[in-house]
Amino acid sequence: MKEITLQPSIGINLHLDSLPLVRECLNDIDHVEVMYENIRELSRTESWNEIIQYKSIHIHSSSMSIGSTGGVTSDFLCSSELAVSSLSPEIWSDHFAITRLNGYEAGRLLPLRPTNGVLRDAAAKIKIFMEKTGVRFLLENIAYYFRYPGYDAMDAHYLAEVVTAADCEILLDVNNIFVNAINFNFDPLSYLQALPIDKVGAIHIAGSRRIGPLLVDSHDCTPSPESLNLLVEAIKLTGPVPVTLEWDSNFPSVDVLRQTLSDIRHQISLCSDTRA
Ligand SMILES: [Fe+2]
Repeated sequence: MKEITLQPSIGINLHLDSLPLVRECLNDIDHVEVMYENIRELSRTESWNEIIQYKSIHIHSSSMSIGSTGGVTSDFLCSSELAVSSLSPEIWSDHFAITRLNGYEAGRLLPLRPTNGVLRDAAAKIKIFMEKTGVRFLLENIAYYFRYPGYDAMDAHYLAEVVTAADCEILLDVNNIFVNAINFNFDPLSYLQALPIDKVGAIHIAGSRRIGPLLVDSHDCTPSPESLNLLVEAIKLTGPVPVTLEWDSNFPSVDVLRQTLSDIRHQISLCSDTRA
């Protein structure tokens, strides 16, 4: 085992409501992740230019609805092309999910039904998006709270199939793996091993909380020790890829956020690169 010093880029996702908080922590982060759907309102703020001038930008979207029938709309492609040319993001990511059903916004991430046709269409959408925008595209594993009869709860194989067919990368959300592993009783390390790990281009981590019988990927608290441990296991395999802390509501104090970012850096510094 070869010990090396890992210094991946650490960042946080950005909301209008968390803008003052993130601004206080600019020295603690290397990049920010912005939702494509929020760029317009964020760009009207005073802090926006300061942030995009000094920090790398990752764009994250939920508009592609990879698992829906039908292609990516021309409006979305044109708008994405504009966002890429104006912000020069390092990466663009969206979810291995359905967010639109029969033209209506679902308002949440729903697992897709992984039939051969759905997986083939998903890869085709991603290819068109990458050809049009020229940006690196990463597909994210989601947290889900139901599964389709006849399909394995562990969706790593289906995700791998689409990523390979589209020749894109993976945004590995370690908290989503942890949440799914608890709710559907599988081994999170087996999930990692079922992925083409060389395709992982970035990592998400977030907090979760128990609501009724389910553990929910809530993005409203500090990551659990289990999630941080899974982050370490993932980084051992992937090497130093960018890590983004997702925090969407119930925002913490500046001190708590700084400590959380510091804990993530510390956990990563404990990693050993086991690759040849
Ligand atoms: Fe995520």
